[in-house]
Amino acid sequence: MTGSELPSPDVFEAARRSAVAVTIHDADSFEGMRRAGRLVAEVLDLLVPEVKPGVTTAYLDKLAYEYTCDHGGIPACLGYRGYRHTLCTSVNHVVCHGIPNDKPLREGEIVNIDHTVIVDGWYGDSSRMYLVGDVKLKARRLVDVTYESMLRGIAAVKPGATTGDIGHAIQSYAEGEERCAVVRDFCGHGLGRVFHALPNIVHYGKPGYGIALKPGMFFTIEPMINLGSYGVKVLNDGWTAVTRDRSLSAQFEHSVGVTEEGVEIFTRSPKGWDKPPYL
Ligand code: MF3
Ligand code: CO
Ligand code: CO
Repeated sequence: MTGSELPSPDVFEAARRSAVAVTIHDADSFEGMRRAGRLVAEVLDLLVPEVKPGVTTAYLDKLAYEYTCDHGGIPACLGYRGYRHTLCTSVNHVVCHGIPNDKPLREGEIVNIDHTVIVDGWYGDSSRMYLVGDVKLKARRLVDVTYESMLRGIAAVKPGATTGDIGHAIQSYAEGEERCAVVRDFCGHGLGRVFHALPNIVHYGKPGYGIALKPGMFFTIEPMINLGSYGVKVLNDGWTAVTRDRSLSAQFEHSVGVTEEGVEIFTRSPKGWDKPPYL
């Protein structure tokens, strides 16, 4: 930008709004988020060797429930807005909020498992993709593109950057370079002592727009990327979101905090299993 150009007025407006609406957390809060993030990551690690042909998502849900409760956590989704399960399990063309059920997973499927825990009042929210047996190249490519999309979004996080910078980093890669589609109807969110708060982290956008990031802000980055077009619809169960064109969809999610230097990821896998293939 040259000296005579000013940022878009939205930047000023967003900065004013964020000053009142987005919680700035202290060092103890980072400690709380590390503990919550670690537990949710342990659960996602625990599920790695369990996801295989023949296993049901209801069984995975039971494993996650038991491990979470046995390790000082509360399953945050259970009872949230009437949701009755620990995990969301989104298979193939399911975009998000898939409900665990008794249908066995089949060779070649891809599944997102999304888990949120509360530890000492702090929320940790993360999801990963899992490959069921041998998976075709087309689906594996989507999973790779989606993981890289999340990483590029995270890499855009630093004090002074904006939520629009995050969205632009994701969209320019996933759509611009990789010809996939970024889902518009669901977004990342602030979290901390609450599950869903400001700022909204939309996974598309323009550099410099949105809310200015400050050290101590906590939020998720959780892009949903479709192989076809971005349209989604919610099924009659009130939860399951699917691609309108029934194309495959993938998602990864980390909970992060803005630091003086840039960003801290709270939900990294202790086993290094952040991205498949895991084993
Ligand atoms: N974990 C999801 C998110 O990323 C929210 C799921 S809400 C539920 O924000 F009720 F569907 F579990
Ligand atoms: Co989330
Ligand atoms: Co989640």
